[in-house]
Amino acid sequence: MPIEKYSFDFEIYNSIDELSSADAALLQLAQKAAENAYAPYSNFHVGAAALLNNGETLTGSNQENASYPVGTCAERVLLGTVSTMFPNIPLQTMAISYYNEEGKSNHPISPCGMCRQYILEYEKRVKQPIRLILGGRKGKIYVIKSASDLLPLNFSSEDF
Ligand code: THU
Repeated sequence: MPIEKYSFDFEIYNSIDELSSADAALLQLAQKAAENAYAPYSNFHVGAAALLNNGETLTGSNQENASYPVGTCAERVLLGTVSTMFPNIPLQTMAISYYNEEGKSNHPISPCGMCRQYILEYEKRVKQPIRLILGGRKGKIYVIKSASDLLPLNFSSEDF
């Protein structure tokens, strides 16, 4: 019985100071965007920022709801905005940051499963990988080459 192995490479930085100025600026935008989260139920504030091929940047934040499943993650809020404002411009990098109720934010968080699927669809649609920069307000930062790295054996319209 053949066994397949899945692995991927990603970069780990010790702090924002080690990032290029463009990546650091995008992560700072995501950190700032987390302040616009509407998260009265989880008190977990997430911000996401996108850099498009045309140089534009846009941000999103999680928007919760008293009917909990109605709430939307920062990444999907952001991609909905990107798609609406710049439907034909590929997105090259997305930064994601957060802080919790006590302001704690010391390690990277990674997009939830639903957001991975959503980001993957965007990559396929614009035919360009989306680099992810994951980092809190301090601590290590992960840079991942493509959202598809986070979703092996994924389902997409190619399966239809
Ligand atoms: N959340 C995001 O916005 N993005 C993620 O990648 C993880 C989770 C939100 C959903 C919910 O509003 C809160 O964080 C707690 O799960």
